[in-house]
Amino acid sequence: GDALRVALAGLGTVGGGVIRLLDANRDLITRRAGRPIEIVAVSARDRSKDRGVDLSRFEWVDDTAALASHPNADVVVELIGGSDGPALTLARTALGAGRGFVTANKAMLAHHGLELAQKAEESNAALKFEAAVAGGIPVIKGLREGAAANAIARVYGILNGTCNFILSKMEAEGRDFAEVLAEAQALGYAEADPSFDIDGVDAAHKLSILAAIAFGTQPAFDDVAIGGVRHVLAADIAQAASLGYRVRLVGVAEEGANGLFQRVHPHLVPLDHPLAHVTGSTNAVVAEGNFVGRLLFQGAGAGDGPTASAVVADLIDIARGEYGASFAMPAHELTAAVKADSGER
Ligand code: NAP
Ligand code: HSE
Repeated sequence: GDALRVALAGLGTVGGGVIRLLDANRDLITRRAGRPIEIVAVSARDRSKDRGVDLSRFEWVDDTAALASHPNADVVVELIGGSDGPALTLARTALGAGRGFVTANKAMLAHHGLELAQKAEESNAALKFEAAVAGGIPVIKGLREGAAANAIARVYGILNGTCNFILSKMEAEGRDFAEVLAEAQALGYAEADPSFDIDGVDAAHKLSILAAIAFGTQPAFDDVAIGGVRHVLAADIAQAASLGYRVRLVGVAEEGANGLFQRVHPHLVPLDHPLAHVTGSTNAVVAEGNFVGRLLFQGAGAGDGPTASAVVADLIDIARGEYGASFAMPAHELTAAVKADSGER
């Protein structure tokens, strides 16, 4: 069939990974998608930067915003980041014009998810974001499609690879926080502003998206209670270990009598719980469904390869024409989450 033509905005860790993945797995992707997936145009800030991939075969577009209306593209892939700014402009313009839009940008979805889902619905365009939550783990698809028949009581997990990498290195090697953060940044796990990672904001972005999928609501980021790992000391980790616990940054969303309760905080996880054994940049998500029981999704939560894997899976869905609602149900049926009266928990 005719190729699915892609305009790619952002050529950093994830954007570079997408190019490498499409090159490496071209034949199998074409067979599975039923047609080739081809990048036609690319954009980033600095044209002269060496990105270790051959960009000469793609059209370079200086004005990133112009990718949204590129005459030869069917789909825009946004891998810039940021809740507003160029990413949001691209999303609004592309979806408004009826083009598919694929993104790994959880910050933007946490703040503008409903608006973008409505735009996609109005113009019958695909809005896909598997890579936005838990990197390479197909947890959006798993909950939205795989567990669609269940009422979900609770969804929780380790949603930030940078923090988990830091906590597990501090624990295993007794190392200093700052030194381990620098390592996570060098590996491409951290956000452009790493305070989003270590202060729990990135995990909260992801939790609000997961909760929206699990509970059929709109993302309600402003309702998430947030704490991070900035002040966790090696001594805290050692003390927890002596009591039989590990320290993990866990995001929890659950429906209570008074509404949806969402929080991200360092937790003491007992050694007999699977989350205690999630190390490095791995993420894990547990969902409790009323018919399926407890589901555990685990895998690489950050990094170029795993994240690109999720981005390209979304492109394959679009190439096949297999895409429906972005969240749990059509956008016009998503309800506002009622914030739980959390008191002092
Ligand atoms: P990154 O390495 O910093 O790459 C960002 C890219 O966006 C760069 O190519 C940069 O251009 C470009 N860019 C930045 N500002 C721009 C602007 N104003 N106009 C045009 N282009 C601009 O970031 P990343 O790690 O790939 O992350 C990209 C997105 O994926 C973010 O939303 C992030 O949250 C999400 N994500 C990342 C991971 C991960 O493990 N890294 C995992 C899941 C999701 P230059 O290269 O020219 O500077
Ligand atoms: N900075 C994020 C993390 C990237 O460390 O989990 C994956 O979303």
